[in-house]
Amino acid sequence: MASLDSPSKNIQTGDIRRFQKRIFSFYKKNKRDLPWRKTTDPYKILLSELMLQQTQVKRVVLYYEKWIQKWPTIGTLASASLPELLQMWMGLGYNTRVVNLHTTARKIVTLFDSDVIGAMKQYKQLPGIGRYTSQAVQIFSTNADLITVDTNIRRIFISEFNLTTTIKDAELWSLAEQCLPRGKSRDWHNALMDYGALHLTAQKTGIKPKTQQSRFEGSDRQIRARILRCLLQKSMSFSEIKTTFKLEQERLKPILEKMIQEKIIMKRNTTYQLNES
Ligand code: ADE
Repeated sequence: MASLDSPSKNIQTGDIRRFQKRIFSFYKKNKRDLPWRKTTDPYKILLSELMLQQTQVKRVVLYYEKWIQKWPTIGTLASASLPELLQMWMGLGYNTRVVNLHTTARKIVTLFDSDVIGAMKQYKQLPGIGRYTSQAVQIFSTNADLITVDTNIRRIFISEFNLTTTIKDAELWSLAEQCLPRGKSRDWHNALMDYGALHLTAQKTGIKPKTQQSRFEGSDRQIRARILRCLLQKSMSFSEIKTTFKLEQERLKPILEKMIQEKIIMKRNTTYQLNES
């Protein structure tokens, strides 16, 4: 069994050097100018990483800039209300991300005295933050000798070292560890992301992500987004929602229940409204 301590695949030092050289040389010529690369503020980097999950870079840039103007610090974000945040997030999709961001911001302020990096080291206490995000925030803010593996980076390793797509995360992370140029983690990860996004694309390699976004048209996600858009304007009863969106009761009920469970909305008496906390 391969584990972090005994990777089944060890790469030759020479291969690693050549790989690093190629990635950095690509980066030198093709580096993307992205707003979150101009800061080392861990709050801003955390925000960018959460926005970038499931959403394209081009779209994120616009939202990121507007968001930072309105809520420039973790403290200002923690003090905002959820409906304000949801309003600003509209169009980015996957709204549970913003609910989690809100809860996480409040926890960072109350439990970690607003120390985002300290909180990232204890990420299991924070909703919506996994190992990928925790390490990415530390890498991009402090240039710590850590690694992280997202879809792009996974694809690069699979292609570069002829791995199977069924490779276990532990093994992949162990390979990434072997390839990390110490002291250059920030540049290295930016360079890998650019190489994966611009050059070694999924289309070119045929290497699919582990999970793929489901179709939006006609999906529960689309219904959720529409309901949310309406509830940002006013509260609505079940029958109002049902008629507005021409939905069967059996389809609508679990959607609303899930939104309540995820703390996006709440039910007061007989009407549904945004969660105002
Ligand atoms: N995708 C996830 N994180 C990213 C980053 N920091 N830059 C570009 N794309 C990303």
